[in-house]
Amino acid sequence: MRKTALSGVQTTGNLHLGNYLGSISNWLKMQEDYNCFFFLADLHSLTIEQAPQDLKKSTIESAAMYLASGLDPKKSTIFLQSAIKEHCELAWILNCITPIGWLKRMTQFKDKAGKKQDNANTGLFTYPILMAADILLYNADIVPVGDDQKQHLELTRDIAGAINRRFDEEVLIVPEPLIQGTATRVMSLRDGTKKMSKSDESDASRINMTDDADTIMKKIKKAKTDSIAEITYEPENRPEITNLINIFCALSSSTPEQIVESYQGKSFAQFKNDLAETIIAKLQPINNEYNKIITNQDYIQKVLNDGATQARVPAQKTCAKVMDKLGLYR
Ligand code: ADP
Ligand code: TRP
Repeated sequence: MRKTALSGVQTTGNLHLGNYLGSISNWLKMQEDYNCFFFLADLHSLTIEQAPQDLKKSTIESAAMYLASGLDPKKSTIFLQSAIKEHCELAWILNCITPIGWLKRMTQFKDKAGKKQDNANTGLFTYPILMAADILLYNADIVPVGDDQKQHLELTRDIAGAINRRFDEEVLIVPEPLIQGTATRVMSLRDGTKKMSKSDESDASRINMTDDADTIMKKIKKAKTDSIAEITYEPENRPEITNLINIFCALSSSTPEQIVESYQGKSFAQFKNDLAETIIAKLQPINNEYNKIITNQDYIQKVLNDGATQARVPAQKTCAKVMDKLGLYR
């Protein structure tokens, strides 16, 4: 029996190089050997207020980018979270099982809510529970994500464990995170202490998957670095150059030592130029594909509809099983 892999990305804006290197590039490798579910976390996106037309646009664009990156609807089930109502149903049930204390520990909530936690919407607080429902509905064995999602995966495992202990049987599969590669946490190009993110106000802080060659070259040339002229790999002391080396490694299948070695005695300008060229070489074919797919919205719609039809089967089954276990009369 094939194992099941599942993951998703929020539809709050443009997908960026961090999403690709930390998450999507690993999904691509799993398509051959796993039963794959890759969805667009549009319900999670509601935790950030945005104009309805922007949400619609970024949902379609994210779906097109999934396909352009190489996700194949013949090999993977690709769907919208909001198309499967069981995500919300199971999330409610998990709400009633998860202690508030477990949620209060989540660092992403603290980061996103900032100082005014009482003003944050409740969805932002219970976000990890919806995420647990996303995963547990499909009996996922493996969840490929970037490093920032590690704590949410631990919570998911704790929730599944709590249910299994309560009924003294394996009602839900306890999933494993897969955090793999040299760029599991790509940092902002403007601030080496912040992760590259869709929600960063500065567009110069990230490489969007749709950026053209000129823009990529400019952003990498302008990427913040310290004043030391040498290229060395020092995660603690030199976060910015370390980040650039990590991106280079992920795209060229090299180790940091190999990159540092090959730039001994060479200039920063040369390093940045080569890095930008490497990023462009990776993103340009994806972009060409994206430009074709985005004009074919009927195709995107069909992929999502077919995906939802397939996803609904296991989702309904798991939800019914959990409802029955809890004594909901059906
Ligand atoms: P964002 O933080 O930009 O809104 P999401 O939260 O939707 O992105 O993340 C989607 C996926 O991409 C997750 O698996 C997440 O771990 C990964 N990811 C997001 N940002 C980065 C990053 N800077 N580096 C590596 N992986 C990332
Ligand atoms: N929370 C994830 C993120 O911000 C997106 C997500 C939602 C997800 N549900 C998921 C990822 C389930 C993996 C599995 O990156």
